[in-house]
Amino acid sequence: LDNGLAQTPQMGWNSWNFFACDINETVIKETADALVSTGLADLGYVYVNIDDCWSAVKRNSEDQLVPDPKTFPSGIKALADYVHAKGLKLGIYSDAGIFTCQVRPGSLYHENDDAELFASWGVDYLKYDNCYNLGIEPQKRYPPMCDALNATGRTIFYSICEWGVDDPALWARKVGNSWRTTDDINDTWASMTIIADLNDKWAAYAGPGGWNDPDMLEVGNGGMAYQEYRGHFSIWALMKAPLLVGCDVRNMTAETYEILTNKEVIAVNQDSLGVQGRKVHSTGTDGCRQVWAGPLSGNRLVVTLWNRCSEEATITAGWEAVGLESNTSVSIRDLWQHKDVAGDAVSSFSTQVDAHGCQMYIFTPNPPSRSMI
Ligand code: DGJ
Repeated sequence: LDNGLAQTPQMGWNSWNFFACDINETVIKETADALVSTGLADLGYVYVNIDDCWSAVKRNSEDQLVPDPKTFPSGIKALADYVHAKGLKLGIYSDAGIFTCQVRPGSLYHENDDAELFASWGVDYLKYDNCYNLGIEPQKRYPPMCDALNATGRTIFYSICEWGVDDPALWARKVGNSWRTTDDINDTWASMTIIADLNDKWAAYAGPGGWNDPDMLEVGNGGMAYQEYRGHFSIWALMKAPLLVGCDVRNMTAETYEILTNKEVIAVNQDSLGVQGRKVHSTGTDGCRQVWAGPLSGNRLVVTLWNRCSEEATITAGWEAVGLESNTSVSIRDLWQHKDVAGDAVSSFSTQVDAHGCQMYIFTPNPPSRSMI
């Protein structure tokens, strides 16, 4: 969407994966505090996004949405002010249907009023869900909210949460800043890997202004091992997915913190070229030894060796697969060890990868040496 936003994938936090409906204004404020105090905000995680269940079950007598008086007694405007004072941005949630998935009022046929209300509160981001949609096609339900947001005069990030049902990659670039390509993620290795593959299919459609959204991060929620979360974060970064933290950032373990604050991996996600990396090679049982790669600015490449097999394995990135001319000499930077790999590689690069682990690298082609000219 050409609204000036999403030049790189959005970064921030969302309440759903950890809190689901158990949210309130204190949790949101404490999360904003924690994003700042942990340094996550300085790394780019600036959107504080409230998901479903913020609203009362009924509109008021003027047909307006109202925050749940028990859980958000101070209202959303006060929360936006609080978040803005910390240099962060506030996101809210509604639904392109008559109810949200948790049966709060939806915004279908209320697009202009609701968009205006959100703008008057100082909201910076809208996630727009797909429940209770009366069977009306998404191409008819999502554009009216885009127009309504635009008409408010406030610049609001528009996140289309249509679950990939009607191939939104094919039509949503003009309508939204990101579009979900899949059903909901859950905090398991199986869910995360399936979603990575589904999102991969749409790589060609991502770019500055609009991104494929394979759903929010589960890093830190406890259902996967350290190595698995590292793969989750690496592949989401490489796929130019939104980096929306989905854990309780007030209580992160050192491992969760290490993963979410890896500056070199974040820089891949936020690279100015904005090209979604893809799975470029796979071997082994069910193709479980995988190479994912993509171009970065400055003629560099990101290469991730992802071992989805249940045993340790050697994985090889061949030059043709990653998109390098044969005999190109490259310097290699290891983004998890934070060091340069000794020696230059000239035709392929192999390494041992733990079961369900991944290694992530940046390849920088070396200038041609004198003898080659
Ligand atoms: C379905 C969405 O896909 C989830 O991300 C979340 O927003 C829930 N609805 C909330 O009900």
